[in-house]
Amino acid sequence: MKRTVTTTEDVLDLLDELIAPLTDHGNWWDRFYAERNRDVPFFVDKPDENLAAHLDQGLIPPGARVLDLGCGPGRNAVHLATRGFDVDAVDLSATALAWGKERAAAADASVRFHHGNIFDVQLPHASYDVVYDSGCLHHLAPHRRISYLALLDRLLAPGGHFGLVCFAAGEMGSERPDAELYREGVGLEGGLAFTEDELRHVFREFTEVEIRPMAARGAESATFGQPFLLTAMFRRTPR
Ligand SMILES: C[S@@+](CC[C@H](N)C(=O)[O-])C[C@H]1O[C@@H](n2cnc3c(N)ncnc32)[C@H](O)[C@@H]1O
Repeated sequence: MKRTVTTTEDVLDLLDELIAPLTDHGNWWDRFYAERNRDVPFFVDKPDENLAAHLDQGLIPPGARVLDLGCGPGRNAVHLATRGFDVDAVDLSATALAWGKERAAAADASVRFHHGNIFDVQLPHASYDVVYDSGCLHHLAPHRRISYLALLDRLLAPGGHFGLVCFAAGEMGSERPDAELYREGVGLEGGLAFTEDELRHVFREFTEVEIRPMAARGAESATFGQPFLLTAMFRRTPR
């Protein structure tokens, strides 16, 4: 059939094909995670420093339901579970999830890992007190921000928190305007960089709790911190 576009979802699928095929079901990421000894900063088994700080400040109530989007090998999900939260974690890569399950077992932590695309995976809870994303959004094509905001609208409980880590503009990632990514056919150039104001704009329906560069953390630290990343915490307006 040559004429297929009749819905917004059809347009989003069409743009996926043009810019960033998700159709390999994580195979690219499976290859990325196949060799665990590579010098990839986020392969360390430590939680994000911003997440650990917010937990230490008591921002998240005990026992909260947390959803980790693009959890990779589960370093944040496992940490959250060891601190008593009820954790679901989703990733496209089965290889990453197998690694995450090993980490969870080693930490005696209970995480429900789900294999699939964040936009269509089946989850056990209808809503979450916290949605956390460390490094997933910046790998999504611009048009998928529409799907991402819809996902938050569906899954984040009123009054709940949304935490994000992404490439910081000026430090790492592509700073091309959205339109140019499609027009020039350059894909996502390894991930998109955001400024603090761009995050404020994308998540303008939420209340800003904090937006700041991630603090650098060395090998001796119990937490992960790289200054080429930006961290954000937002709160959804309570009903
Ligand atoms: C930069 S890695 C970060 C992994 C992990 N959050 C961490 O910080 O250690 C990005 C992850 O997002 C996952 N991902 C990207 N797009 C996704 C999608 N549409 N649905 C589910 N996972 C996705 C990739 O498989 C990858 O594991």
